[in-house]
Amino acid sequence: MMVEKTNRPSLKNIHLPNSTPQQEKELAQGMVRVNHLYRSALKVAVAQMEILDEEFATLNDRSPIHHIEYRIKTLDSIIDKLRRRGLEVSIDNIYAHIQDVAGIRVICSFVDDIYSVANMLVSQDDITVIAIKDYIKNPKPNGYRSYHLIIEIPVFFSEEKKNLRVEVQIRTIAMDFWASLEHDVRYKVDKTRLPAGINEEMLACADRIAEIDRKMQDMYRRIKAAEGK
Ligand code: GTP
Ligand code: MG
Repeated sequence: MMVEKTNRPSLKNIHLPNSTPQQEKELAQGMVRVNHLYRSALKVAVAQMEILDEEFATLNDRSPIHHIEYRIKTLDSIIDKLRRRGLEVSIDNIYAHIQDVAGIRVICSFVDDIYSVANMLVSQDDITVIAIKDYIKNPKPNGYRSYHLIIEIPVFFSEEKKNLRVEVQIRTIAMDFWASLEHDVRYKVDKTRLPAGINEEMLACADRIAEIDRKMQDMYRRIKAAEGK
């Protein structure tokens, strides 16, 4: 199953402080191309992921991927991110510094599936791994768990081949459940007004969820062993 979180960029109203209307117009035109290139990269990466999933399924009688979500970063959050990093808002800086314009989230059933998917991905000939962050082996201090990769894939257009970066987050259904709710709390609530103890409870929930993931994985391994597989 694939779910696209549609973020159609609104290009009509780019307003940047200290920019001329001409600069704003150029940025808007550049963004149309950025959007097209990264949408194409997403399609290639998602298709590749599905091919790997099907191949695994034919060999193992089950699919390691529960579902895939993907999205293009909105222009607003691209601009926010450049500013947070003290970078000028320009098309060149988007290509050079924003690694998650194209983002894919691969939701797996079991923790072992995450590593199977990641290994299949990195052993692809035409995929270059730019960075890996294993927040499962090393969870973030708040309890966040997921396996992150920045990959670079070649995408073929009519007149050129472009190598484009895609952020891939691989996690279990349980990790996704925690991350979705934590994200809501973090972004939709004013952080300075969080009641005392929330961060600690959030961390405790993450640890309990990780324990459940371990139990599910363990049960699945035992069932498979009993089947003699
Ligand atoms: P960003 O600037 O947020 O992209 O972070 P980064 O460049 O340091 O990369 P990192 O791999 O830490 O995080 C990338 C993405 O992972 C984020 O944009 C989120 O989608 C997700 N993520 C990372 N940390 C958390 C977290 O604590 N909670 C939740 N819900 N998601 C997180
Ligand atoms: Mg990000």
